[in-house]
Amino acid sequence: MLGNLFKKKKLKNPVDLSGLVTDMHSHLVPGIDDGSPDMDSSVELVREMHKLGYRKLITTPHVSSDIYKNSPETIQDGIAQLQQRISLEGIPVTLQASAEYMIDDGFELLIKENKLQTLGDKYLLIELPYFNVPPNLYDVTFELQIKGFKIILAHPERYLYWYHQMDKFEELRDRGIFFQMNIISLSGQYGGQVKKLAEKLVDLGMIDFLGSDMHNLQYLEIFKASLYEPYLQKIIESSNIKNHLL
Ligand SMILES: [Fe+2]
Repeated sequence: MLGNLFKKKKLKNPVDLSGLVTDMHSHLVPGIDDGSPDMDSSVELVREMHKLGYRKLITTPHVSSDIYKNSPETIQDGIAQLQQRISLEGIPVTLQASAEYMIDDGFELLIKENKLQTLGDKYLLIELPYFNVPPNLYDVTFELQIKGFKIILAHPERYLYWYHQMDKFEELRDRGIFFQMNIISLSGQYGGQVKKLAEKLVDLGMIDFLGSDMHNLQYLEIFKASLYEPYLQKIIESSNIKNHLL
């Protein structure tokens, strides 16, 4: 009962996502990463995201050198098939594909081979491992910036090795790196520390993009429940969010 007493209030109505226009982080291409398992699930996810107010979905399959060895070809083949089904179903949503790049050893090869898929105006979505900071992080991001890429760091609130080091986040932003928060981080679904860090980053005005990071139908239910979080209202009402520019 005490726990309930201190629980923060939820909103009466879900936050309206239509002002975002675009979602820029999800795993909707079926069967090529840990996201949507099959075409029917993908269609259902696209339909539901459209109902929630999104008009454009830039989906971002994982690319890493160990588990998800996706290439521009595997991603583009997959999105073309999904696009075909979405057109048949008559869902009026624009679909595009980019990628979510893990900063690992293999990533440097992708830069060299010029095999990077951007979103919007040369934005590149990157992610970091959850348990250690990649030793090449600063070198790689600098090299990308020299080449004209604008870097978006996926879900900074999930990198708990920096939980007590806000200066690390400040340093990345000083280096011109944009931050994308996962909407469901605000629900506490990834744990209390992730929720707290997400709220702190919102308070500090450090969040530039909001992503669904949609994976599957179970995830969709958690996502819908997250729309009652007061902090989501707060960030959407701020003028910081740039999703509509993509
Ligand atoms: Fe993701």
